[in-house]
Amino acid sequence: MNSEALPFWNAPSRETIAGYYTGMRAFWHPVMRADDLPEGQPVGVELLGERIVLARLNGEIVAMEDLCRHFQARLSLGDVVERDGQQCLMCPYHGWEYDANGQCTYIPQLAGDREIPQQARVPAYHTQERYGLVWVCMADEPHFDIPEFPEMDDPDFHAGPLRVYDPWEASAPRIVMGTLDDTHFPWVHTGILGDLDDTDPPDHRVWREGRYLVTEYTVVQPHNLSTADTTASGEGNGAGEETITYTAYVGIPNTIRLLKDSDAGRYIIWLSTLPHRYNLTTTFWRIARTYDRNPANDQKYEDFEDLVREQDRPIVEGQRPWLLPPFWTKVEMPLRPADLPLIEYQRWLEELKIATSV
Ligand code: FES
Ligand SMILES: [Fe+2]
Repeated sequence: MNSEALPFWNAPSRETIAGYYTGMRAFWHPVMRADDLPEGQPVGVELLGERIVLARLNGEIVAMEDLCRHFQARLSLGDVVERDGQQCLMCPYHGWEYDANGQCTYIPQLAGDREIPQQARVPAYHTQERYGLVWVCMADEPHFDIPEFPEMDDPDFHAGPLRVYDPWEASAPRIVMGTLDDTHFPWVHTGILGDLDDTDPPDHRVWREGRYLVTEYTVVQPHNLSTADTTASGEGNGAGEETITYTAYVGIPNTIRLLKDSDAGRYIIWLSTLPHRYNLTTTFWRIARTYDRNPANDQKYEDFEDLVREQDRPIVEGQRPWLLPPFWTKVEMPLRPADLPLIEYQRWLEELKIATSV
């Protein structure tokens, strides 16, 4: 369907989508679990509306456009092969081979005395492996480094398994904001993270710290796994209340590290997003905690978080416009001071030209 035929709130303009993709290209995005990228076999992923192929070549993870320069076949359907002692990526259609830089290094059909043309290359992208994930940046120079997750290597914490949520029909900023937003707790997470008898928004402190937007606030919540050591008390969810201090570090623009401090200790939700398209986003996430560090108990924490995420999902997937409408459009009505963290997050995305129009 022609997107121009749909109302703006359901179909962003081409300009809006292009602004989002261009703005987001400057950052590192997690694209898959490192364990899911095998030796000897390329894997295709969609990132910011483009198909990219990932492979392990000569001990390094490489990423390049998933379109062969010959006749645009998908390189991710091909194979990792070895020629002259070097691994390269072979197109499945006519066997052209590419090195880690995306340069074509072998063309089987080339006439005897011809050289491989310089233009026989595909764009290659930066890659890093960190926190169990493969990260890709499609810009020449990444704007920021990969956001930090220091608790991953901190012996005071137990980190649970790296999880991958099926893609949500939402944009990455909407998902990050869904985790940053706390005033929805009484309605969406009734009896778990909030209570309809206490709907006053907390006082937020919000500031920038290097490449992070930080927000801090204190709330009273029903007793639950993320706020209390239920193994110590033997109590289940819903027994009593806890005072929790939240500190959220938003790794602009796509990652959030949410610290929850209670009498039990510190509980962390770390999540980062993979924007396949403006309206389709996978989330990678992991929790870490200083209490109840027995890995055998991980599953109940995962189940708890799954329940919370499933409550969020229809709300976030249902938000329109898909992409954040800039403040000047007055499409949305963020409130001060209740929505201050969201306002400051969006302000930064607008500065980075990630949210430009509707
Ligand atoms: S399309 Fe890739 S080698 Fe022909
Ligand atoms: Fe929520």
